[in-house]
Amino acid sequence: MEHDAIAVVDFGGQYAHLIATKVRRLGVLAEIRQPEDPVAAFRPYRGIILSGSPSLSAFGEDSDYTKEIYDLDIPILGFCFGHQEIAKHYGGAVEHGGREWGPADLHIQGEHPLFRGLGSSERVWMSHYDSVVGVGPQFRELGFTTSPDGSPDHRYAAIGSDTLRRYGFQYHPEVDDTVNGHAMIANFVLEICGCRPSWSMDAFLEQEVDKLQRRVDGRSVFLLASGGVDSTVAALVLKKAVGPDRLRLLHIDNGLMRKDESRHVLAMFARLGLADSLHFVDASDDFLAALDGLTEPEAKRRAIGNTFVKVFEREARRLDIEGHLLGQGTIYPDTIETGGTKRADTIKTHHNRVPVIEEMIAAGRVVEPLAELYKVEVRELGRRLGVPDDVVERHPFPGPGLGVRLLCSDGVPDRENFEAVEPMVAAIAAQFGLEALALPLRSVGVKADLRAYEHPVLLSGDAPWATLLDAASTLTARVPGINRCVWNLGPGTPSAARPVRAHVTRQRLDLLREADHIVMEVLRRHGVHDDIWQCPTVLVPLAFDDDDGETIVVRPVRSRRAMTATPVELPPALLADLRRDILTLPGVARLALDITSKPPGTIEWE
Ligand code: XMP
Repeated sequence: MEHDAIAVVDFGGQYAHLIATKVRRLGVLAEIRQPEDPVAAFRPYRGIILSGSPSLSAFGEDSDYTKEIYDLDIPILGFCFGHQEIAKHYGGAVEHGGREWGPADLHIQGEHPLFRGLGSSERVWMSHYDSVVGVGPQFRELGFTTSPDGSPDHRYAAIGSDTLRRYGFQYHPEVDDTVNGHAMIANFVLEICGCRPSWSMDAFLEQEVDKLQRRVDGRSVFLLASGGVDSTVAALVLKKAVGPDRLRLLHIDNGLMRKDESRHVLAMFARLGLADSLHFVDASDDFLAALDGLTEPEAKRRAIGNTFVKVFEREARRLDIEGHLLGQGTIYPDTIETGGTKRADTIKTHHNRVPVIEEMIAAGRVVEPLAELYKVEVRELGRRLGVPDDVVERHPFPGPGLGVRLLCSDGVPDRENFEAVEPMVAAIAAQFGLEALALPLRSVGVKADLRAYEHPVLLSGDAPWATLLDAASTLTARVPGINRCVWNLGPGTPSAARPVRAHVTRQRLDLLREADHIVMEVLRRHGVHDDIWQCPTVLVPLAFDDDDGETIVVRPVRSRRAMTATPVELPPALLADLRRDILTLPGVARLALDITSKPPGTIEWE
């Protein structure tokens, strides 16, 4: 092997590729390996990292993977499930319980090269059900954690054996919310494994162009170009690889776009010199027809994804370019959350991963130049390729657009287990001086790497931001079936919530489009737009007390790679403007701010 490299064993945790990316950012090649790969496949590496896992439990039955890796004289570091496996293999004990998600404080015991350059207490990110409760004779505890909710200490959050060169972290150092996680990974890769850096973005671009040229092999590519940063950067990488003459771009107005979006997108492609390659079609009728009467999020996602393919194929026939390959600006989180690696749980089916597209991928008809990259890397690549800053820095906007921000309901309350849930929710909220209502519909979230389709809670009352966040993380951690909390911005404190019958209609989409436009304007006016990574505005078919109107939820988040996110505090003057402008929209009767981190909430509600 030409580069010093690290093997990342993909147990299907959402974070396996993120680990590889973090290692690559150190300039060290990282490759994903499957747990059942033969031991010989691991020999060339200077280190092995075991990822977390959504499905395997380290507790109970023996997990099935190539355990001969433990016989290799190569350092091994495990995260979450990987940590538990290492503990177990060397005589430690793992128990079902001690679950944590969200932030925790790691208290480091003594000095260790893994924590060189760090403080004695470090903020880390947790997402697990099982816990290590004892270690084998050659191991010691390197750190334990305490949680902001004041629950008892969690022992063995970091363990290690320097004789064996085996280490484990219960937390996820690969996510940005583990503040100094990159330093811990760097200490392992550079110090303990002794890797020398040799990977770069320029090298990636060169390799990708070369790979695309071989894949495309004289054919042409037809790329779905939404105008977001991903498809725009993908268009430029493809242009570099196949040349402008063999690249066609299709911009579809699916009726689920933001206000005036298509007009801006066409102007932007013209600025990038791609106007001649670009075709535009208004297919909003097709999308509305496909979504008619649907309420279930995955059914809506499939309908949107399938309609993209239908319109794409129709346009290809019309333009007489049916033999073209399909190009997509898919980035890594789109594939991983769809269950795109062997073992990842399906959290959401992204529009570019519906079954028809999976079939086209299997038939070798799809090219995705960015499929290995995360948003920050796509932005970096975009800058290198000359994409203007205002495009590179745009808030991400999902392919299914407002379609996944327009919740639907048949009007039947969904109150599963509410007899047990409601008193728990009220009691916990009261500890923080707040009132709470569990809401009788669901939104998508992610807990311990698994899809969680659960209920939100509406919190009412005045409290400092930190208290609100504590209340939200305590509620989602302690109450089963709750994955999200929103803070009531008015009017008043409601005492009952009921779903209203509502589906995807042009009228509701126009209402959401207007609300989204107002939110974006208010964020810009108050100078906070650029500090926020993304801010979905969601129309939720819930009415409170005697009102008939629906609810608007605003979800500003900070994130870097969309795998984790934290809610953003908005200044009181901004909230006052939002109340004034949103609550006067006809059909809207309530406004709330989403205060959930990811996990356990996802950024989008569906
Ligand atoms: P979640 O909601 O899973 O979103 O936390 C993570 C990021 O992905 C975006 N997103 C999508 N992007 N097609 C896309 O291109 C999709 O189907 C899709 N669904 C979610 C979301 O906006 C966020 O940035």
